[in-house]
Formats: sequence, structure tokens, C-alpha cells
Amino acid sequence: MKLTVVGAGNVGATVAECVARMDIVSEIALIDIVEGVAKGKALDLWESAPIHGFDTSLVGGDDYALTEGSDITVITAGLPRKPGMSRDDLLAKNAAIVGSVTEQIVSRSPNTILIIVSNPLDVMTYVAYMTSGFPSQRVMGMAGILDTARYRAFLATELNVSVKDISAMLLGGHGDTMVPLPRYTFIGGKALPSMLPEQRINEIVERTKKGGGEIVGLMGTSAWYAPGAAAAQMVEAIVKDSNRILPAAAWATGQYGLNDLFIGMPVKLGTGGIKEIIELDLSDEEMAMMNNSAEHVREIVASYERIKETAMA
Ligand code: LAC
Repeated sequence: MKLTVVGAGNVGATVAECVARMDIVSEIALIDIVEGVAKGKALDLWESAPIHGFDTSLVGGDDYALTEGSDITVITAGLPRKPGMSRDDLLAKNAAIVGSVTEQIVSRSPNTILIIVSNPLDVMTYVAYMTSGFPSQRVMGMAGILDTARYRAFLATELNVSVKDISAMLLGGHGDTMVPLPRYTFIGGKALPSMLPEQRINEIVERTKKGGGEIVGLMGTSAWYAPGAAAAQMVEAIVKDSNRILPAAAWATGQYGLNDLFIGMPVKLGTGGIKEIIELDLSDEEMAMMNNSAEHVREIVASYERIKETAMA
């Protein structure tokens, strides 16, 4: 199995490191427009192999020939957020980057699975889908694992329990309209609403929604450890054909009453990519939040279409 990671910034390098340490693919190609950084990080990671004990080989550079025959490609290329920016502010620049990266990748790896990490996430996944012409099973966006990880981390601290015993599901776009689901959050089998007052749950949900911004505020740029680990977990589920059910941005074909957009939903991941999209029973209130999130994603897709038309005119 071969993995390509496009973008050798903090997120891309973390994806490469996490997957290399899992020792589940034979080769990782790390690509960046800054050739030396991609080459250097790939070499540095390979030099850590004898210490960690993995056999995954790593190559880096700016030449897409290195990506030939990839089974899975993670696209992290694009600008990260700076303080005061929303993910949507990155739209025009990152759409151009993700579009051209996708073209380069699919011409050399026509059977690859695409996992998009660039922001604004749901719309960049749409750009990769439209550009690649791939079946929707092979195009997905990483967001839900990251958002539920933040939510689970906050809950583990709050409740003083292991993160391993908190399972959670989350729907919607990767932004302030995301829909964490306390009713579908279980702590050692107990539903969250029976364990914390509603007010406190709401505060944790709010912190989760703004979790990316919290990091940007602290560091002046966006997060990478949790986003990188989250993308690596999707790669692992696909490589091992483990049929894990994880939230990811997937192409809606009627699920949750939605069509023709990428939005976060629980999916079953394994060989070939998305094997199934899972529909949870939602209350009217949860459904309204999902619709609101979908509406927001559609607005950003519409701005992207306008930008594209202006560029072509
Ligand atoms: C975040 C960015 C990666 O949520 O979207 O941290």
C-alpha cells in the first residue's frame, strides 16, 4: 500500500508521522511546493524509523512523479487560518490549490482514495470530488474525527474518565454550525445527558464548535497534532479494512434528507473508502441543526461557484 500526503506543513508532516509509526503502508510520499521542506521532513521521519521500529519508507519532494500509483492520498495543501480568520476566509486561494493538487494526483493515481483536510473542509472536499470525477465512495473529508476528539478530550477532563471510555458522534459541517450529539455520547455506556447538567453540556459543545479557533488564538496558526492524527485514523481504517464507523465529510445522497453536498455524517470506512453512510434517528431539534449546518455549507459552495465563474469569465 502506498500513501501520498500533499502538503508538508505541520498537518501533513503529522499525518505522515502517525501513519509511518503505525507501520501499515510500505511507502509514504510527502509532496510540497517547497521541495527542501518535503524532502527534509521525509528524510527526518525516515531517520526516526530505526528508533520507532517501522519499515514504512518515506520520500519527499515537489515532483508529483513521486506520487505515482498511490492507494490513498491525503490533501492538506493550502493556507492555514490566522487569528481573526474563519475557515471560510480561505476559500478562493485554497480552492485553487486543492483543484490543481487533485488534478496532479488523479492523473498519476486514478484509483486512489482522496482524503481532504484543507479548509474550508466541506467545500474543499467538494472541489476535489468535482475535479477528480471519482465515485463518491473514494472522496471524503476529515473533520468529524477531529471534532469528536476535541469533544471527547474536554469530556474526559470534565468527568475524570479515560478518553477510551467516551464514545461520541457528531454531524454537520466543519465549522461553528457543526452538530455534536449529546444524546449519542456515551460514557462507559451511560448517556451523557444523565451525567452532566444541560448547561455544562452546552458549554462543552460550544467549546468543541470553537475548538479550532481556540488553538488558532493560542498559537497564531491552526492546529496539527489532532488534525494529523485524525486523518491518520481514516487511513488506518481503510488500509486495514476495519469497517470502523467514524464521522467524516461524505457526499449526501438522501441521507438526513440532504442531497448533493459534502457534510459530516457517520460512515463505515474500509477497503475502497466509504462503504456505507449511517443514518441516526434525530430529534426535530437535532435535524434543524443539521439543516442549518447544510445551509451554511451550501452558501460556501455557492461562493465557490461564483469565484470559479468570475475566474473563467
Ligand atoms: C481545526 C482546523 C484544522 O479545526 O480546521 O483545527
